[in-house]
Amino acid sequence: MKFFVDTADVPAIAELNDLGMVDGVTTNPSLIAKSGRDILEVTREICAMVSGPVSAEVTATDADTMIAEGRKLAKIADNIAVKVPLTWDGLKACKTLSSEGNMVNVTLCFSVNQAILAAKAGATFISPFIGRLDDINLDGLQLIEDIRVVYDNYGFDTQILAASIRTANHIADCAKIGADVITAPPAVIKSMASHVLTDKGLDAFLKDIASAGIKIL
Ligand code: G3P
Repeated sequence: MKFFVDTADVPAIAELNDLGMVDGVTTNPSLIAKSGRDILEVTREICAMVSGPVSAEVTATDADTMIAEGRKLAKIADNIAVKVPLTWDGLKACKTLSSEGNMVNVTLCFSVNQAILAAKAGATFISPFIGRLDDINLDGLQLIEDIRVVYDNYGFDTQILAASIRTANHIADCAKIGADVITAPPAVIKSMASHVLTDKGLDAFLKDIASAGIKIL
C-alpha cells in the first residue's frame, strides 16, 4: 500500500519523507489556501522533495480551461499528477491529459459509477472520499470495497486512492480492503503509531529503569 500525504505543509511532508513514509503527496485548493502560498511555488517545492506523484488540482470547471491549466501544472515537474474533479468536463480533461502522457487524479468521487467512468477516461488515480460519505451517514469504506471489486472484475489499472481519511482506523481498513493508495493528513499518519498499551507498557518499563538504575550510555 502506498502512502500519500494530504497536505501542502512542506515541513510536515519533509518530516515524513525523511522516514521513508511518503510515496506521494496530494494537494487541493483548500490545502493550498491553508498553506497561504502560491500554488505554483509550493507545488514546485514539494515536487523537488518527493520522488512520487504530487497531485495538483485545476481551478477551472470547463474542460478546455482545465486542460490548459493541467498542461501548465504538468510542466512544473515530471512527477505532477493533474487533479481534476469528477464532472463530465473533468472526465474530458482526464481523457485529453492522460492521452498526452500525464498522470491524472480524478477527485471528488462518491460512487462506483463515477469510478468506472474515470477508469474509462484513463485516470491514473481515482479518489473516493471516505470521510465525507461517513459525514452524511453513508459508508465510505463500502465504496472503496465496491470499486475494488469492479476494477478487479474488469482489470482496470486505475489506482484506488482512498481520500478524505480522518482516522488511523480508516487506513487499516483501506489496507484490508486493498486500496492501492491512501492519502491522509500528516497527523493521521503519525497517529498510526499510537496505542494505549504501548504507552502503558513503556510507563512500567521506565519505572523499572528508574528503580533499578539501569543505564546503557
Ligand atoms: O484528499 C481529499 C481530502 O483533502 C479531503 O479531506 O477531510 O476535507 O474531507 P476532508
